[in-house]
Formats: sequence, C-alpha cells, structure tokens
Amino acid sequence: MDRRGFVKLCSGSAAGLALADWTHRAAAADFEAAPPARLVGGDGVPLKAADIPAGEALVFAYPMAGVPCFLINLGDRAAHPASMRNEDGDYAWPGGVGPGGRFVAFVAICTHQMSYPQPAVSYLRYAASGSELAGAPGRIVCCAHASAFDPAEGARVTGGPATLPLLPVRLAYDAASDGLAADGILGMAFVQRFFKTYKADLNARFGPGGYREAVGDTTACVPLSRYSGVVPTC
Ligand code: FES
Repeated sequence: MDRRGFVKLCSGSAAGLALADWTHRAAAADFEAAPPARLVGGDGVPLKAADIPAGEALVFAYPMAGVPCFLINLGDRAAHPASMRNEDGDYAWPGGVGPGGRFVAFVAICTHQMSYPQPAVSYLRYAASGSELAGAPGRIVCCAHASAFDPAEGARVTGGPATLPLLPVRLAYDAASDGLAADGILGMAFVQRFFKTYKADLNARFGPGGYREAVGDTTACVPLSRYSGVVPTC
C-alpha cells in the first residue's frame, strides 16, 4: 500500500476513538495520522500509565495487525524532542508523553535487516538495566547483528550496523484516565518493504492479508517476555 492508500485506509475509520482532549507532548506534523487505537492490556482493559512497568517493553500492533511496536516506560530518563533523519529525510520527533514524558513507542522492526519480535523468538528487546551490547541502561538492542538504539533520543542508533533510527509511533495521553493511545506513525514505505519481505511468515500468522488489517479502536499490549518464547539477552 502506498502512502495515498494508507491515508485512505485511515480516513475510512472516522467512527473510531476520538482523542480531542488528549495531549501530545509536542506537535509532530511529520507523522502520518492513523486511526487512533487505545492501548489496552491483554485482558482488554485500558492501560494506565501508572501501571506500565519500566523493566521491559510491551509489544502492541499498530496501525495494522502485522506491525509490531514497543511501548516503553523510560523510568527516570527524560525523552526530549529531537531532530531526526531517516531514509525519507528529516523529521521532528516529539519526545515522550504522559507523566514526566516517560512513555515512548517505536516500530519494533530493526532498520538494519528487519529482525522483529515473533512468537518463537525476539532478537530485539528493550534492555532497561543495560547489557553488554547496550553499553548503557535503557537501550533497545538487536541481537541479530548487534545494533543498539536509544529510545530516549528518538531511537537513534548508538551502535552496530544499523544506520537509521527505529520508526517512531506517535502516542497521545489522557490525564483524566491516565490512558495512552497510538495515533500516528512515520515511515510507512519501510513497513511496506517489511510486509513484502516477510509476506509468507505474516500470512501464516495472521491469515491471508490479515497482517494489513487495521487494528481498530484498541490494541493489546503484551510484555515482550510473554509475546516471544525466547528473548536473547545480548
Ligand atoms: S537486523 Fe538488527 S542488527 Fe541486523
């Protein structure tokens, strides 16, 4: 699906979740708007920011069923807005949302060779307390070929063969309910290449074409340690 097709998909879901009173930390005009999806737990109950652990990433799908994303509570680290660059050019990353600006989200597909969390194994993980590869606490590491990314700085590359940051997912926060929603993404051309590369695997998991289905008004967040059977700790 090209960008025009993606926008059409988005506009076709106007009856979805309305986020008029929700806040972004900063304007992020570079993002492609997508139908908002409330972040809920595996039981379908809306997540509260206060209950999201800082020790590991939660995995959720957005904006389509076959796009895995990480929701990360950065704990004590602040996520500041940053100027970033990906294969399409420059963009403004808005930083974190929620209390302390601690909550960030990225597409969990490594920009090096597209390693991503699968039910059997995930070579990509958030190393909250650091690791040999991470070099410092709070990095996203990819054990496939040893790349590392800093989620507090827009998931910029901090080491390894990857040259581009992870794709950002825009979050919105509602102080009244302490809830979070995803409502935008940047880098759909990369996602389309991912779909093409892993089409057979994705069809096997989601049914023919199911990986391209929009997630709807809610999307379930699952700790990575439950989402994938094996999570190497490089
Ligand atoms: S696929 Fe992640 S480092 Fe190569």
